Amino acid sequence: MAKLLDVRVVSREEIGCCPWQEVLDSMEKWQAVMAAVTLQGEEPVCWAGATFLGFETEIFGRQFTKLQLSDLRVQHYTERVGCVSAVAEALNEWQRMQGVFCAYIRFPEDRLDLAHGLEQAGYRFVENYLTFSLDSKEGVSEQQYPDIRPYIPSDIPVLEHIATESLLTSRFHSDPRIDPIGAAKTRAAWVGNSCQGRAEVVFVADQGKGPVGFVIGRRCGGPFGREAVLDLIAVSAHARGAGLGQKLTRRLLEYYSGRVDRITVGTQGKNGRAVRMYQRCGFVLDRAEVSFHMIFGK
Ligand SMILES: CC(C)(COP(=O)(O)OP(=O)(O)OC[C@H]1O[C@@H](n2cnc3c(N)ncnc32)[C@H](O)[C@@H]1OP(=O)(O)O)[C@@H](O)C(=O)NCCC(=O)NCCS
Repeated sequence: MAKLLDVRVVSREEIGCCPWQEVLDSMEKWQAVMAAVTLQGEEPVCWAGATFLGFETEIFGRQFTKLQLSDLRVQHYTERVGCVSAVAEALNEWQRMQGVFCAYIRFPEDRLDLAHGLEQAGYRFVENYLTFSLDSKEGVSEQQYPDIRPYIPSDIPVLEHIATESLLTSRFHSDPRIDPIGAAKTRAAWVGNSCQGRAEVVFVADQGKGPVGFVIGRRCGGPFGREAVLDLIAVSAHARGAGLGQKLTRRLLEYYSGRVDRITVGTQGKNGRAVRMYQRCGFVLDRAEVSFHMIFGK
């Protein structure tokens, strides 16, 4: 069993003085504000970064962070769990001092070493998260979409209402320790921000009496070059089960056909209706992850 010589929070500057270029590079990629490093002799075997989440922090009026962990340079399972728990504890201490309320981390669901290490440091499971993807040329039919149109600015209040009422499976909604009013506000703000420039395209379902659903598409880099994400979709409860969700999805696929190579979408594993709809439209499961939260204080 390797000896853990040092576990501590280090600053970016301090890491910058060390010959650990790889650590520095990965921290920059993560935009980490601080990192905990576990040392084994001179070499770091595990490190982690915490990033402040501005969107959530503003909505809840409390500090939210996201954690990321490096690969582990130790093989033994117990050692791996120990490293994860040690860096997470070190970051917890730092986050407590910063007045953080909620820290969040997402990782592949089969990484039991991460799950156990994080649990030892106080983190708790909140959701299964599934990401689907599709080659943008697939899933496109020559269909017409008479009841789907681009959004107009006067739609925004209705779309925010649909989002608040419909989107109830997020990691905020799934954690009973998080204020449900704030959780609802995140969905409304997401739609509002999307319409006001964050998204590339927003389509609404409208059968003549105003919007009853929407889908949001956004461009993202991604490892495959030209990539887009189906960012959010919802249909009002009274209009569901009539094919509008599928039409909205297919209209977005048609929009991105030829514009990007690949489209992804993520949802919670418990959202069976959304999962079935994405699969019907040609999406296939890409990866399965879990999200954990650590709540500090009350
Ligand atoms: C997911 C969601 C957008 C689907 O919208 P929808 O308009 O109900 O979707 P569809 O009508 O295309 O499909 C829903 C069901 O109705 C069925 N259906 C579609 N057209 C139908 C018709 N004409 N007659 C009977 N059933 C029909 C579909 O087969 C499907 O059945 P299933 O759930 O058993 O697989 C909607 O349920 C929703 O807004 N949920 C809450 C928000 C949410 O979870 N969004 C995803 C976040 S990632």
